[in-house]
Amino acid sequence: MAKCLIMYFSQGGTTAQVAESIAAGLRREKYEVDLYDIKEDQQPDLSGYDLLGIGSPAYFFRPPFVVTDYLNNLPDLSGMPAFTFVLHGTYRFDTARSIRRVLARKGARDAGHFHCRGADFWLGYLKEGYLFSPDHPTPEELSQAEDFGSQVAGHVAGKPYSLTEEERPPTLVYRLERFFMNRWFVEQMYSRMFKVDKNKCTACGLCVKMCPRANISEDRDGYPVWGRNCLLCLTCEMKCPKDAISTPIGWPLIRSLMIYNVRHASRDPSLDYVRVNHSKGQTQRI
Ligand SMILES: Cc1cc2nc3c(=O)[nH]c(=O)nc-3n(C[C@H](O)[C@H](O)[C@H](O)COP(=O)(O)O)c2cc1C
Repeated sequence: MAKCLIMYFSQGGTTAQVAESIAAGLRREKYEVDLYDIKEDQQPDLSGYDLLGIGSPAYFFRPPFVVTDYLNNLPDLSGMPAFTFVLHGTYRFDTARSIRRVLARKGARDAGHFHCRGADFWLGYLKEGYLFSPDHPTPEELSQAEDFGSQVAGHVAGKPYSLTEEERPPTLVYRLERFFMNRWFVEQMYSRMFKVDKNKCTACGLCVKMCPRANISEDRDGYPVWGRNCLLCLTCEMKCPKDAISTPIGWPLIRSLMIYNVRHASRDPSLDYVRVNHSKGQTQRI
């Protein structure tokens, strides 16, 4: 039986859902499928696999650093077929292209691409009162993902495949945003802007536990201390039940970019959203 390994990063669970659906489609075609969460931080052994799948959310119009680092550490893939899938709350632009570029450099053969929307719990938007793409992926999108899994099996077997949809690069403002969210800024500037209000913090350790990069440690009194290995997912601030954490999201440059994004996306008829209130780690629909 042919074997497939699907590796994905999923902080909010939507990429994981799509990974499961694609796996179901592949199993329909008699593939044995293993799923691997990149957060586990160990490079799985690829020997014995015939097909590779890489799933990622769009983070600032590119894959999160954790995904690119992971891909860069993959061994030579010597012609192994590989497919990609991307989840996005608003605009993904050419996120998948950078994943495919690394895979091609590693010698993988492109076996297909899937993308769909995923509920966008990016704190920058929640704080402005917007949850984009709520309830995505929908049952229909998940069923399309399952069909995609079957199609991939066909591509591997030799059915012709070419990427049909054009993936545009970001427009100027979004390109600037991507630039301001690059690794240098994150490591050298934003990482230093995380603060905890010790009058509110109960040292519950939730932020430490939730950080996907294990980037938060505890000081002697149990208060969080941030390192430089941040993805800017802001899960720490988002999940804090005491609203004790402040992050670079409050910084005027980032705040104004968020306001621009929310204005733009909320006027785009192709996107859906609900209005929300976010406080004390909870997002409530209004
Ligand atoms: C830090 C961060 C940055 C994001 N940047 C983008 C983006 O640039 N474009 C987009 O369409 N969605 C963006 N999103 C939304 C996610 O891509 C989307 O919600 C995805 O479904 C999340 O996947 P997950 O649930 O597997 O974590 C971002 C979300 C986060 C947390």
